[in-house]
Amino acid sequence: MTLLQSTLLQDKVAIITGGASGIGRVTAELFVKEGASVVIADMARKEGNELVEQIKGQGGEAFFQYLDVCNERDCAALIDTTLQRYGQLDIAFNNAGIFATPALTEDQGLGLWRRVLDVNLTGVFNCMVHELRAMKSRGGSIINTASIAGLSGTPGSSAYCASKHGVIGLTKSAALEYGKQGIRINALCPGLVATPMTQGPESSFSNRMIDMAVNNAALRRQAEPEELAQMALWLASDKSSYVTGAQFVVDGGATA
Ligand SMILES: NC(=O)c1ccc[n+]([C@@H]2O[C@H](COP(=O)([O-])OP(=O)(O)OC[C@H]3O[C@@H](n4cnc5c(N)ncnc54)[C@H](O)[C@@H]3O)[C@@H](O)[C@H]2O)c1
Repeated sequence: MTLLQSTLLQDKVAIITGGASGIGRVTAELFVKEGASVVIADMARKEGNELVEQIKGQGGEAFFQYLDVCNERDCAALIDTTLQRYGQLDIAFNNAGIFATPALTEDQGLGLWRRVLDVNLTGVFNCMVHELRAMKSRGGSIINTASIAGLSGTPGSSAYCASKHGVIGLTKSAALEYGKQGIRINALCPGLVATPMTQGPESSFSNRMIDMAVNNAALRRQAEPEELAQMALWLASDKSSYVTGAQFVVDGGATA
C-alpha cells in the first residue's frame, strides 16, 4: 500500500535555527515530510549532521549548516549557502534559544543578561536581516519562536522574559515593514514543551517548575514538540496566507 504524502510545503526551502534539537528538530522532520528542503542550522554539529543523515535515509532533502546566531557572519553565511544550494528561501523558522538558571533580577548578573538577550533576541535579529533581504523579491514566511514568557512576567526569569517580549516586538515591527513585499512574519509562543531545554541532563528547569507549569495548564500536561511543529507548519504554509504580525500561543491553556 502506498501512503498518500501530504505536501503543504512542496518545492519550498526552509531554514530552521536551533534545528538540531527539541522543537526545531521535530519541525525539521515535519517540514521535510511536507515536501520542503530544509537547512538545519545549529551550533550542535553532531546532532545536526545525524538528523540530516536520518532525513536523507528516509528520502528527504536537508543539509546542516553550523550557526551561532550571535555571530553576524554565521547568519550571513547561512543565507548565502542556502541560496547557493537551493536558489531560493521561502521559510525561516528562527527558533534557536537558551534558558537560564532562575535568579532574582538583582542576582542575575550582567554577563548572563547579555548572553540571554544576545542569543534569544539579537540572534533572531541577526538572522532576520539576511532572511528579509533574500525574501524581498518573492515573499516568504518568517516564524520567530518567542514564548508565553514573551506575553507576561515570570519571577526568576527576567532576562528570558525580556528577550522573548523583544522577539514579539521585533516580529510585529518587521511584519508592518515587509507586508507589502509579501513577507509574513509571526511569533510562536509555546508554553512548557518536553524538550532537552526543559528536561535534558543540562536543563535549568527543576521538577518543581515543571509541576507548576503542568498544573497551570488547562490541559494539565506539557506539550510534545510535534504540537508546536504543527503550528509552525501552518504559519509556514499558504494556509495562513492572510496572517502576519501576530503571536500564536500554544500553551495548553496556561495563559487563559
Ligand atoms: N521547551 C519549552 O518549554 C519552551 C517554551 C517556550 C519557548 N521555548 C523556545 O523554543 C525554542 C526552542 O527550544 P527547545 O525547547 O526546542 O530547546 P532545545 O534546547 O531542545 O533546542 C535549542 C537548540 O538551539 C540551539 N542553540 C542554542 N544556542 C544557539 C546559538 N547561539 N546559535 C545557534 N543555535 C543555538 C541548541 O544547540 C539547540 O539545538 C527556544 O527559543 C526556546 O526559548 C521553549
